[in-house]
Amino acid sequence: MSANRPVPARPVVAIVGATGAVGIDLIQCLEQRRFPLADLRLLASARSAGRTLPFQGRQIPVQELTERSFEGVDIALFSAGSGISKRFAKAAVDSGAVVIDNSSAFRLDAGVPLVVPEINPQAAFEHSGVIANPNCSTIISITPLWPIHRINPIRRLVVATYQAASGAGAAAMEELRESTRAYLEGRAFEPKVLPHPYAFNAFSHNSKVDPETGYNEEEVKIMRETGKIFGDSSIRISATCVRIPVLRAHCVAVNFECEAPISVEQVRELMAGAPGVKLVDDPERNHFPMPNEASGQDDILVGRIRRDVSDPSGRSVALFVAGDQLLKGAALNAVQIAELLVRGNG
Ligand SMILES: NC(=O)c1ccc[n+]([C@@H]2O[C@H](COP(=O)([O-])OP(=O)(O)OC[C@H]3O[C@@H](n4cnc5c(N)ncnc54)[C@H](OP(=O)(O)O)[C@@H]3O)[C@@H](O)[C@H]2O)c1
Repeated sequence: MSANRPVPARPVVAIVGATGAVGIDLIQCLEQRRFPLADLRLLASARSAGRTLPFQGRQIPVQELTERSFEGVDIALFSAGSGISKRFAKAAVDSGAVVIDNSSAFRLDAGVPLVVPEINPQAAFEHSGVIANPNCSTIISITPLWPIHRINPIRRLVVATYQAASGAGAAAMEELRESTRAYLEGRAFEPKVLPHPYAFNAFSHNSKVDPETGYNEEEVKIMRETGKIFGDSSIRISATCVRIPVLRAHCVAVNFECEAPISVEQVRELMAGAPGVKLVDDPERNHFPMPNEASGQDDILVGRIRRDVSDPSGRSVALFVAGDQLLKGAALNAVQIAELLVRGNG
């Protein structure tokens, strides 16, 4: 893929996968953040062609995605799975668009920046046509850790996720609703989207498990992507990813060990000032980050900050985060990257 023309101040934007869980939030983010676009093109499968979706008070028709969909497009926000990204990103780049891809297709490719604007905004300008949005659990887990890592490098990180249905797309959200209804009405329910009964249950993330390492693909994404985003591949990371029956917003139990001792007060202070992060840490009222409070919020909620007493060196801290992974974990992060491009080479 080749380098592209600069993004104009008012670009033509296309959304690939506009009808999906992330696509719908992309449209809303563009509208709510008053993204300065000249035109918006909505693309999805042939199944959705002819549907319309609301944007700025008008109805925009959804068009079927083809290789000719990108004529005149400056920024193409891809959110239709890695197969579609691999098949159509080149057509978009060849037409002159910068692709911001929500899938895992190119995240670890050399020459493809993996960007969280609060962490490595400058990387967005080092693209050759494609910029990757990190995995949602990665973004939610590590955005709060960056201000810590900058002043006292994190050497070891252990995370355990509690992931919402929305992370698996619109169909999984519907399966959670339907299976919960069936459970409460005492009806049998056959899962179609996820591998196990979802209502009143929790199960290991629905991605393939590597038979040699025992880690599933979601866990591997967190473990590999963090080093690329932080520009530090020396951090030792272990992840456990689990689905819980929540509609929207992932939670993560995070435990990290820094190079030097670090106090709880220092972490709390860093969290209070961290961009994209909101401190929710009230032990007296037992009020900590929760998915229902994180849903619909741009900020990642951080709390339960405490010293890890299993490490007497004082270098380890535990905390808990909740973040709307359709927003900061996907749509919002992608739109923030597009905003960086529009603002120009900073
Ligand atoms: N959900 C999240 O929290 C999250 C977070 C980060 C990244 N992502 C990534 O974002 C992507 C989309 O996820 P999602 O949760 O939004 O999935 P989703 O709700 O299942 O939506 C999938 C979208 O892809 C479109 N699509 C499917 N097949 C297509 C085809 N052959 N041609 C054109 N469009 C096609 C669908 O269009 P139709 O409606 O016409 O079928 C729909 O708009 C995935 O790569 C996912 O890994 C998701």
